[in-house]
Amino acid sequence: SLDIASLRKDTGYITYDPGFINTGSCMSSICYIDGEKGILRYRGYDIADLVQNCDFIEVAYLLVKGVLPTLDERSNYARLLNKHSMLHTDMRNFFRSYPHDAHPMAILASMVASLSAFYPEMEEKDPEDNIDLTVTRLLSKMRTIAAFSYRQSIGYDFVDPRYDYSYCENFLNMMFSSPVLDYHPDPVHVKALNQLLILHADHEQNCSTSAVRLVGSSEANLYASVAAGCCALWGPKHGGANQAVIEMLNKIIKEGLSVKEIVEKAKDKSNTFRLSGFGHRVYKTFDPRARIAKQMCQEVLNVEGMHDSLMEVALELEDIAIHDDYFIERNLYPNIDFYTGIIFHLMRIPQQMFTVLFAMGRLPGWIAHYLEWRHDPYQKIGRPRQIYAGPETRKVIPLSLRT
Ligand code: ACO
Repeated sequence: SLDIASLRKDTGYITYDPGFINTGSCMSSICYIDGEKGILRYRGYDIADLVQNCDFIEVAYLLVKGVLPTLDERSNYARLLNKHSMLHTDMRNFFRSYPHDAHPMAILASMVASLSAFYPEMEEKDPEDNIDLTVTRLLSKMRTIAAFSYRQSIGYDFVDPRYDYSYCENFLNMMFSSPVLDYHPDPVHVKALNQLLILHADHEQNCSTSAVRLVGSSEANLYASVAAGCCALWGPKHGGANQAVIEMLNKIIKEGLSVKEIVEKAKDKSNTFRLSGFGHRVYKTFDPRARIAKQMCQEVLNVEGMHDSLMEVALELEDIAIHDDYFIERNLYPNIDFYTGIIFHLMRIPQQMFTVLFAMGRLPGWIAHYLEWRHDPYQKIGRPRQIYAGPETRKVIPLSLRT
């Protein structure tokens, strides 16, 4: 029951903008979104064009360096990423101290911050000299940390990265290889992973990217700033949404509900339930990423087949919702999380790893924004103001007299 009108009168020129919904915090040339028309571009390239013609390493290079790599640059970069993919032995041992049931995002965030202890080049005298090395290390080692955090959570030995594998093959191999299985990453899974990482690679000033920029604005090093991004992404309102999709589908199955019932419940305003994986704050038409992920979902489905009832429920839900007037009138389309949740499920990626994969994809975007801030002469340390709404001046009553 704040009297916002009178508070506004007293606060001079401070803008009250909860969630910074209408505040531009920077000028940026990395990502363009038009939510009405369903457009998403990285550095001027349409997302569909990038997905069709590039792999994740090329897109990471584009975001970080501003241009697409030539053939030579692409292979040198891939070689460099492989070179830096191992983790310091002491860091490997460090993993073993986490409880087996630790959430992989907890391990990821703290291990990324720990990189500044094991590879402190950015703390040295001239950080500008070392920034390229730090960026390469982070892009490469984050993938290893992500896979190790999963192996730790299931109590399995770590699998080292291989020099003969690509970025995505390496990740899948480090996740799923086992001495009793002759595991080779499936090419369709490799393609799907490449595409999903590209789709997640940037989305302008979202919560985690803003966190990276804000921490970076204090001149904290890149590892520390990206660790803050991981923490921001962890929340269910951000990176956790695709996990919520699978949880919802499992609940439908477990409780024996019909898909029609669950859709009616989502439309009923007497409760707060919403269909996870439908609607988007920015996109008021089909999310361009969801369109691509939907096609990819079909490709993976063709290889994996409907191996459980979850897929049947997902497809029935999609079909009913997109033809329902309630969803049509409100521009509520299946979003990227709907399809990525299903693709990861088909690829047998455990639910707890969904957000970790999102973080791997978003990493080049975080780095690009961190670097853009560093080189922007107009940037200042991030320091939003507030409108004070607490008590007036009070006097301290001595402890013995307080009731
Ligand atoms: N299921 C049922 N109804 C919905 C849903 C949904 N998933 N999403 C929105 N609505 C309804 C609202 O009840 C509201 O109805 P009303 O006008 O009759 O009151 C109307 O659609 C508009 O809703 P808003 O909350 O104003 O829409 P907003 O754009 O602010 O919300 C959001 C977007 C938060 C994503 C919302 O659609 C939602 O909660 N979706 C489910 C969660 C989800 O999938 N999140 C992932 C988003 S994608 C991403 O983060 C990468």
